[in-house]
Amino acid sequence: MSDDAAIVVENLHKSFGDVHALRGVDFRVDRGTVLGVLGPNGAGKTTVVRILTTLLHPDSGRALVEGRDVVHQAAAVREIIGLAGQSAAIQEELTGRENLEIVGRLYHLEKATARRRAVELLEQFDLAGAADRPAKTYSGGMLRRLDLAASLVARPSVLFLDEPTTGLDPRSRIGMWEVIRNLVAEGATLFLTTQYLDEADELADEIVVIDHGRVIAAGTAEALKDRVGGNVVEFALPDRDRLAEAARAVAGLADGDPSIEPDTGRVAVRVGSRGSEALVQAVRELDAAGIEVDGLALRRPSLDDVFLALTGHAAEAEEDGGGRRRRRRSRHGASAPAGTETDATTEGVGR
Ligand SMILES: Nc1ncnc2c1ncn2[C@@H]1O[C@H](COP(=O)(O)OP(=O)(O)OP(=O)(O)O)[C@@H](O)[C@H]1O
Ligand SMILES: [Mg+2]
Repeated sequence: MSDDAAIVVENLHKSFGDVHALRGVDFRVDRGTVLGVLGPNGAGKTTVVRILTTLLHPDSGRALVEGRDVVHQAAAVREIIGLAGQSAAIQEELTGRENLEIVGRLYHLEKATARRRAVELLEQFDLAGAADRPAKTYSGGMLRRLDLAASLVARPSVLFLDEPTTGLDPRSRIGMWEVIRNLVAEGATLFLTTQYLDEADELADEIVVIDHGRVIAAGTAEALKDRVGGNVVEFALPDRDRLAEAARAVAGLADGDPSIEPDTGRVAVRVGSRGSEALVQAVRELDAAGIEVDGLALRRPSLDDVFLALTGHAAEAEEDGGGRRRRRRSRHGASAPAGTETDATTEGVGR
């Protein structure tokens, strides 16, 4: 292991009964960088987070955080990590300030130090004005920020964020991104799972794509896009009922299946190295089918395209029963059933 590895994961396996959640996962994260972990629901992301944060033992394989083994040196690992999990570990009856002070005390900070640290974090996370209100009165975005603040009380050098912006409105997400960028600027190493591919594109130095408990691709966002290769012709339909029809009309120029986003009415077609001539052909085909479109354009692949190409099933944004936004997108024609995976929960570390 080289000195600048903050996280090393080797051949991790984990089963829950006959569910093989992890089937040999390997990756490493350099110190002071952000790893973005992408994967559809049930891919194994939270399982990796729980193993790395000592909440769960792997069946086999090895994981080191700052050189400390997560199984054999679990206490030492806990001293240097922070976790903001998929379910917030905030006590909602207590105020934001009390929540942070309690976490500080759990980390054995002096009372005065815990108090100072709470004030600092409340300022940093734009919660000072709400510091003395019970957390149950906070909005979803405020709760996420408080949860993240709680994970930072002990100044962890390695931070695990499991879907930190799922369920946040666009403005709160961008606020959270800024907070995350500042953390990294201060030198923290970040392990970030997300289902928002623009988030990984925006924040991650390296990306690992997990599907069915295996790493199916890794590299920078740009390298992954190059790997999928080629251009994408994209357009939106004013008439959402004609999505499948439009996808069929342009299927002839596609490298693979066109993808459809029912929520936004968008259709994307991978056209390889073809450029404007593919665009012209799309216009002709859609025109011949009598389908009106908006914003027909040619662009480089997005991470969404990469994801679809790699996993065969990307995401469409949708609310699940718990009000969390899920990203799912269907292949041409076929829509995946909603809510087929149950959510695993993570507990807080050291609280
Ligand atoms: N405690 C558990 N008991 C049984 N099965 C589990 C448990 N935890 C996870 N699993 C299963 O392991 C697989 C991986 O789950 P995991 O929570 O790691 O996925 P994920 O990638 O985090 O998904 P999501 O995007 O929905 O959060 C899933 O099939 C899940 O149902
Ligand atoms: Mg998860």
